[in-house]
Amino acid sequence: MEHKGGLTRRALAPLMAGAALSTATACSPTGSPTVQPKSRRFPPGFTWGVATSAFQIEGALDADGRGPSIWDVFSRNPSHIVDRSDASVATDSYRRYADDVELIAGAGLGAYRFSISWPRVLPDGAGAVNEMGLDYYRRLIDALLAKGIEPYATLFHWDLPQALFEKGGWASRDTAKWLADYGAVVAEKLGDRLKNFIILNEAAVHTIAGHVMGIHAPGLKDGKLLGPVTHHQNLGQGLAIRALRAARSGLRIGTTLALMPSRPVGGPLRFWNLLPAEAFDAVWNGAYLDPLLRGTYPWILQSYVEPHVKGGDMTVTRQAVDFLGVNYYSPAYIKLDRSNPSYIGRGDPPKGVEIDAFGREIDPSGLGEMLARLRNHYGNPKVLITENGASDPLSATAPAILSDRFRIDYLRRHLETVKVAMEHGSRVGGYFVWTLVDNWEWDQGFTAKFGLCAMNRASGARTPKASYEWLTMLAKTMLLPTAEI
Ligand code: FCB
Repeated sequence: MEHKGGLTRRALAPLMAGAALSTATACSPTGSPTVQPKSRRFPPGFTWGVATSAFQIEGALDADGRGPSIWDVFSRNPSHIVDRSDASVATDSYRRYADDVELIAGAGLGAYRFSISWPRVLPDGAGAVNEMGLDYYRRLIDALLAKGIEPYATLFHWDLPQALFEKGGWASRDTAKWLADYGAVVAEKLGDRLKNFIILNEAAVHTIAGHVMGIHAPGLKDGKLLGPVTHHQNLGQGLAIRALRAARSGLRIGTTLALMPSRPVGGPLRFWNLLPAEAFDAVWNGAYLDPLLRGTYPWILQSYVEPHVKGGDMTVTRQAVDFLGVNYYSPAYIKLDRSNPSYIGRGDPPKGVEIDAFGREIDPSGLGEMLARLRNHYGNPKVLITENGASDPLSATAPAILSDRFRIDYLRRHLETVKVAMEHGSRVGGYFVWTLVDNWEWDQGFTAKFGLCAMNRASGARTPKASYEWLTMLAKTMLLPTAEI
């Protein structure tokens, strides 16, 4: 992380001593070939799906009474987005949702993870409910159900209503309460047909990229926000889970975390990288796993969150979830960075390893490592892999790669790891590919293409790639193809 702020020298000093005493590290072997499962057959009932998010696909930002979100405002400044694009059309899914549903059904997938735009439902973030916005989700959900596709809705995938940001956003404790109120509205209004809820998407990314590094909306660069933004999301999540359960029975409620093993960069200076790697693990993984599943914060984070934690809060953050959503793309390589007050620096993956379009190591073992950690240290919750996928090489102009062998290999190798984890006892019930159609990828604009289908931006027409056919076959046979197929 190149940000200024975050973990301070004061907090890291005792950690240095701790590392000297401890042999435990956040490291695991890298570059190992994917361990092969005993059986390539997935159990009956295993869910196959694709995942999207509202701001990245819907477009129609002014339609039917929607209010602005922090991403509308952030992306209005073209310097924030690498190709200077915006999401005003995106994949046009507000209008073309039936095409999306058709593609999902055509692949024989049992589930669709999408997100609900908070400012469509509550244009001011709180108060007046916009029925026209809700109607869009009624149409989408009904179209899915008509095809036998189970809807999974994320409540908050980073698009906070701008009105709430102006009242303090996640730095303010009030936002936790507003999230719960919004959740209750959605449960009351849509819960007759929508049963699967994911409260937050990747709170770690929203905290760090949005509030500490400033590369995502709301574009703040302030290390002091680490504590309050982390805690208020955890608190809001707990309050929202309670509110949903109070509003309706029979809902299946989970939340989605971005889990990344934190690996110290190797070499002669490796010892000095151990502690920053442990600190990053606390900020990225533990900051959200521990409050939810243990009712605590990692000790490294204590001094940051403490001023914001009130009596009883940790009973609210700790909730029994019906499933834990795990998003996985790559491990993180961390090194000591003395120029950064947090001492956490982004390191390079080991030389010679495979790299994805984002310059991150392709390493399915990192997913296996996080699943083992959930199994062994967090009571083995039921897990859904709610995102996993690979982008074409980043480019503003290159056409999408339709014969996407690299994506098939990426998915296959990660699924081999999932299957091995299941054979070790992990309770993984489903897998959602990020994503259905090449979409608007936040600060990367249209340069990152993760879709199983390409999209012609002029006509909106979708074209399935080879990976779409591959997933179709997998969902049909439940049998993970070998590398040759
Ligand atoms: C995840 C986000 C998702 C998408 C993928 C590529 O971190 O949850 O919206 O951008 O990365």
